[in-house]
Amino acid sequence: MDNDGHMPSVRPSPHVIDPMGLGRPLCSLGRRHGSDYGRRTLVLARAEDLRVIQLFRRAWDFVRRVAFQDTDALAPGSGGNAERPRHGTCTADEASVRGANGAPRETDLEAIVDRHYGNDFNRKASIYVEEYERLFASRRLEPLRILELGVLAGASIFVWRDYFPNATIVGLDIRDRPAKFPEDERIHYVQGSQADPSSLDKAFQVALAPFDLIIDDASHIGDLTKRSFLYLFPKYLKLGGYYIIEDLGTSFLPQFPDGVWFTDGLRRDDPPNTAIFASHQNGMVGFVKQLVDETMKTLATGGAALPIESITIRTNLAVVKKA
Ligand SMILES: C[S@@+](CC[C@H](N)C(=O)[O-])C[C@H]1O[C@@H](n2cnc3c(N)ncnc32)[C@H](O)[C@@H]1O
Repeated sequence: MDNDGHMPSVRPSPHVIDPMGLGRPLCSLGRRHGSDYGRRTLVLARAEDLRVIQLFRRAWDFVRRVAFQDTDALAPGSGGNAERPRHGTCTADEASVRGANGAPRETDLEAIVDRHYGNDFNRKASIYVEEYERLFASRRLEPLRILELGVLAGASIFVWRDYFPNATIVGLDIRDRPAKFPEDERIHYVQGSQADPSSLDKAFQVALAPFDLIIDDASHIGDLTKRSFLYLFPKYLKLGGYYIIEDLGTSFLPQFPDGVWFTDGLRRDDPPNTAIFASHQNGMVGFVKQLVDETMKTLATGGAALPIESITIRTNLAVVKKA
């Protein structure tokens, strides 16, 4: 760890699990499309399966372009801004979903994610996409303020640019600004550590208002995740806003800096008759469990707790709503 509290960016390397002893790998613990381990039912996904899915996607993209004349679709890296003639006039609603050059904005987040990530390992998993749509599909045209911690090559920032055409978006990363980053006055880059309050202040200053949505997709180290949360949640998240922590599953990767193998506390009954339940306390999962304590603590202490309205846990994802 360096002086900024920065851990080297460690992506969970694909971690093959075969709990059913089938002799073929189940999905990886990396977030892969196709592997979709986030769903309740694990989907068997081998390399061949992924190739089939890719082929299917390409075929579907082709059908979209040809049958639906969707010229905006899926030119890799086009960012959805391909020039396209406008036909006739459009209503105010239509206008608000068009970009500056008149190209229609896509409303299907999964398709936008496909376009910007392709086969990238860092692709937002389908379960995340579902969750973002559930929370924001009806609000995507509002002038939202969005902060994402962890930018890497910028794919997610391009996604948010296209899905939220009127939002102010800030990406923060400890690395240099990526070579390819949206050139758009509503999109900003801040270089700094997620654990450094002055960098987080800067993110707020460029956004000019508190955030509606904060996403932590940065270090995936529980301690750094916690530091960002404790600083940003009370100070820079709007009331009713969402703070989303991605990739909790790194806590179960023993090769990850603060990960460790999962041990099944729920099914263990030793020592008997104890009120203490053994549980996984590592990494981001350990931190999210602390948030559960925080949410309830006023029942016991009457003292002030963080203003948490709800915590939604989905596989590998925690969504914390501010009261
Ligand atoms: C998973 S990648 C982000 C992927 C990106 N959100 C996307 O979906 O395309 C993680 C990023 O977090 C950054 N990172 C790691 N530690 C950090 C820290 N302490 N503060 C800020 N960024 C950090 C890394 O440099 C890396 O670019």
